Amino acid sequence: MTGASSGIGASYAERLARDGYDLVLIARRRERLEALAERLRREADAHAEVLAADLTDAGALARVEARVSGDESLALLINNAGFGSYGPFVQVEPEVVDHLIDIHVRAVARLTRAAVPGMVRRGAGGVINIASLLALSGSMPPNPLPHRSVYAGAKAFIVTFTQAVAGELVGTGVRVQVCLPGLVATEFHTVQGMDLSRIPRMTAADVVACIPGLDDASLLERLTDAQRAVVMGANRPTLARRYQPIN
Ligand SMILES: NC(=O)c1ccc[n+]([C@@H]2O[C@H](COP(=O)([O-])OP(=O)(O)OC[C@H]3O[C@@H](n4cnc5c(N)ncnc54)[C@H](OP(=O)(O)O)[C@@H]3O)[C@@H](O)[C@H]2O)c1
Repeated sequence: MTGASSGIGASYAERLARDGYDLVLIARRRERLEALAERLRREADAHAEVLAADLTDAGALARVEARVSGDESLALLINNAGFGSYGPFVQVEPEVVDHLIDIHVRAVARLTRAAVPGMVRRGAGGVINIASLLALSGSMPPNPLPHRSVYAGAKAFIVTFTQAVAGELVGTGVRVQVCLPGLVATEFHTVQGMDLSRIPRMTAADVVACIPGLDDASLLERLTDAQRAVVMGANRPTLARRYQPIN
């Protein structure tokens, strides 16, 4: 479970501990992880291990990968660690671009790659990747949504990556799914210096479903149907009629 030291990750950890899972809690802030592990042992009688790691650091990511790929009883990987850094694209610091991609793209892909082969061998397991509704927001202008190009683009990677891996694993006993939360009351915005305390937000404890706030689930089917239609309809060797010269 990555990003277990606060917010959605800590809520998942609490829920999974109550459901009887043994946990490996991963994030940078060791003290927070130790405190959570201690509480889960006390309140849920859970086995909780702490692995402090900065997932934007290649060496630390390799250590986490080794822990994941070497675990022959791994039942579930949750790739949840992440941060936002909103602002106009022309002003985003290059190292922030790197870190957003490191954590939302590289770490998610590498840890999924580390987890899945063993799960497929065992014929059982699951991966949950936490994206964001902003993954679907590329066509929407910046206001009132935040300026979010790299964050939203990286989250879009998580959606497409997860759908494609899930498609490859049909019939293996391994399920891979992506969660797209909207606004959630965690430290996510305060870390960026934003105060959203007066805006109604979902609780982290409620973020357990695929798109937790979506009442009309058929919208999701229509979205994936439209994506399939565009991919299948546009993948042709000839120009669409509207681009062909009028004779
Ligand atoms: N809150 C929202 O409105 C919202 C909406 C949609 C999606 N999300 C996504 O939900 C996920 C969880 O965010 P949250 O809302 O729970 O925010 P949060 O309370 O700020 O939690 C973020 C978690 O990620 C960890 N993390 C951040 N950078 C890390 C790094 N370099 N290496 C390892 N761990 C790192 C943090 O731990 P340390 O600081 O201890 O490392 C923390 O445990 C993120 O992927 C976020 O993009 C959030």
